[in-house]
Amino acid sequence: MKKSPWRATLVTLFPEMFPGPLAYSLAGKALEDGIWNLNTVAIRDFSLSKHNTVDDTCFGGGAGMVLRPDVVDRALDAATKENPEGRIIYLTPRGKPLIQEDVRELALHSPGMVILCGRYEGVDQRVLDDWQERRGLEEYSLGDYILSGGEIAAFALLDACIRLLPGVVGSEESLQDESFELELLEYPQYTRPQQWNDRMVPDVLLSGHHQKIQDWRREQAKRITRERRPDLWAKYINKHGN
Ligand SMILES: C[S@@+](CC[C@H](N)C(=O)[O-])C[C@H]1O[C@@H](n2cnc3c(N)ncnc32)[C@H](O)[C@@H]1O
Repeated sequence: MKKSPWRATLVTLFPEMFPGPLAYSLAGKALEDGIWNLNTVAIRDFSLSKHNTVDDTCFGGGAGMVLRPDVVDRALDAATKENPEGRIIYLTPRGKPLIQEDVRELALHSPGMVILCGRYEGVDQRVLDDWQERRGLEEYSLGDYILSGGEIAAFALLDACIRLLPGVVGSEESLQDESFELELLEYPQYTRPQQWNDRMVPDVLLSGHHQKIQDWRREQAKRITRERRPDLWAKYINKHGN
């Protein structure tokens, strides 16, 4: 029996942005092949006001507008009706910083996601609290910087998940070797030509000696992690020693 597609439902003010970059390359092919599918729910459709207003000024003062809880609630209701099993995610700089382990969990241990994309100053806290308490809404951040909207973050989150879905990336091995999968950053990669300007491919990679190549890659991965990401290195050392 054919597996049902992994479902992504985007709750957004800009449904026309999707699938956007996700229509290309691996994600695009997987979309065509029915490995995943995508629906959008336009937040504006759930406004009851004459001018389709979705936001209002912040109580307590301060710059910018906030998405109204009643409008977002109705949009989330509609999204979760069409994607009832999906994890419910709000993308926000205040969320848990997203790491590959979360991506793996979201891609491989859930049938899909409903993603709420914020805009302006964000979303009224009450609707987030309500959906967190009743429906387990989770908050993730893409990093310690501010994007102007959750859609850009959603592209990144979806892309990271989709490439892990079975059948999307040709070889399982290429996923296993990547940065973070082995708790280290990836070793350097080389291709043809063997000499480029005055730079050579490291001899060991041309040796055909499988074990030596593995050892070299491991050492390089450790060196790069130690030099660039002391936080990851400390975690690695803690778990595996040197
Ligand atoms: C301009 S931002 C609002 C930032 C908010 N006022 C704050 O300081 O936390 C508008 C929307 O973009 C999205 N966004 C911005 N930065 C993000 C990040 N680092 N990770 C995930 N989503 C982000 C969120 O959905 C947010 O509601």
